[in-house]
Amino acid sequence: MGVGTSLRRLGLGYPEILLSMACFLFLFLRHGRRGSRLPTKWPVLGMIPGFVSQSTWCFHDWTTEVLRESGCTFFFKGPWCSGMDILGTSDPANIRYIFNANFANYPKGGQFLEIFDILGDGIFNADSDSWKTQRKVANSRMPRFWRFVARVSREKVEKVLIPLLARAAEHAAVVDLQDVFLRFTFDTTCNLVFGVDPGCLSPDLPSVPFANALDDAEEVLFFRQAVPMGWWKLLRWLQVGEEKKMVLASETICNFITGRISERMDEVAKVRQDKEVPMRLEVQLDAGRKRHLSTRQVDPVVFGADDLSSAIYLEAALFESLRLFPPVPFEHNGAARPDVLPSGHKVDPKAKIVIPLYVMARVEGIWGKDCCDDWKLKHEPLYKFLSFNSGPRICLGKDMAFTQLKVVAANLLHKFHITVVKGHVEVPSLSIILHMKHGLRVNVEKRV
Ligand code: HEM
Repeated sequence: MGVGTSLRRLGLGYPEILLSMACFLFLFLRHGRRGSRLPTKWPVLGMIPGFVSQSTWCFHDWTTEVLRESGCTFFFKGPWCSGMDILGTSDPANIRYIFNANFANYPKGGQFLEIFDILGDGIFNADSDSWKTQRKVANSRMPRFWRFVARVSREKVEKVLIPLLARAAEHAAVVDLQDVFLRFTFDTTCNLVFGVDPGCLSPDLPSVPFANALDDAEEVLFFRQAVPMGWWKLLRWLQVGEEKKMVLASETICNFITGRISERMDEVAKVRQDKEVPMRLEVQLDAGRKRHLSTRQVDPVVFGADDLSSAIYLEAALFESLRLFPPVPFEHNGAARPDVLPSGHKVDPKAKIVIPLYVMARVEGIWGKDCCDDWKLKHEPLYKFLSFNSGPRICLGKDMAFTQLKVVAANLLHKFHITVVKGHVEVPSLSIILHMKHGLRVNVEKRV
């Protein structure tokens, strides 16, 4: 008598039997090795079944457990011939080695270029001489950008952000602070790059197709890293599923950028023709911005960038937030030649190297037992605090981003009492940029 017959005698039909088997398989894959989170390596399929069975659990939490259990470095074997072998490491010694000591052997690599094709051959994708040239040019522009961002951030906080939150406070309306900050960043970035303020933060909070397209593209870029290369390329060729989303997102992004460039060229041509106004960037930026300024009475900001240069506790709080919630949650490199990391793990040029920043912040071996709730002030090396990257490719906009963060945080906290709505659940999104899946719903009260 077969097992199936016995089970059916117990009153179980085929659907119930199949469901029980699926549950058993799921639990075995998830907790197979006596509660271990390490995925089992199967012939042909590699570790993909273990990875897929975790998809219901928070991906970031799972990765944290896997790296904790494996001593900070884990080799994920992808399905046979899938090009999905990944060496994940959160070991600071390895990170220092990859980003500094042996930087030349760890370029972004060909796979990165293919996955992030939407970035073209710009600085984020470039390696060797092209990267060196672009970095030099971008670096030389940073002081000017910094001054511009400091001024625009102050104006935007005063004339748009504070009035917007004041209105929400008056009407006791719940605000999605994540959405508001994304709009703020989007307006100031467009202003910096294109010389036009798209007015995403205007009182009616309009729908912003370009910003939505960016979110979609970021999710697809995450998806491409989580599946075999052949799979997403097939979807791209068929133009279906996630890759269809990428096609639509790319179209929206391209249309927006070409639109802004042609507007800008028309403005420049007009200025040249008139020869009345000197062709200075600042003049045109002002023109673009004034169209969107609120006419309400202005409640002046109290803190500008210069006032906040010595606000070290504010800076420490922001650093701590960026440590625990790094906006770029993964770094991704390749190896030019075979190598051995300080942890003893071999590196094969065919494998991807992934550094999960979100995970690093939660590893007690790196940050101590209070890694999830430490608010003490101390200096740490950048190969431990990787939120702005480390080594020769460190973020060029770090100081600029910090200036903006400080101006916004100091002025809003001075004027408003902000509390997260009771019961709001914060879940990280699965994207190459860390967002909260359900936004950040807050109540705002004016301080008296
Ligand atoms: C909180 C805000 C920011 C964070 C967390 C951040 C983080 C990062 C990270 C992690 C990288 C390395 C990415 C990679 O793997 O290639 C990077 C690179 C870079 N960032 Fe930022 N960034 C921020 C804001 C900015 C701003 C405002 C600018 C300039 C306007 C900027 C300009 C750059 C540039 C040019 C690079 C490329 C550097 C290179 O590859 O040599 N960033 N940033």
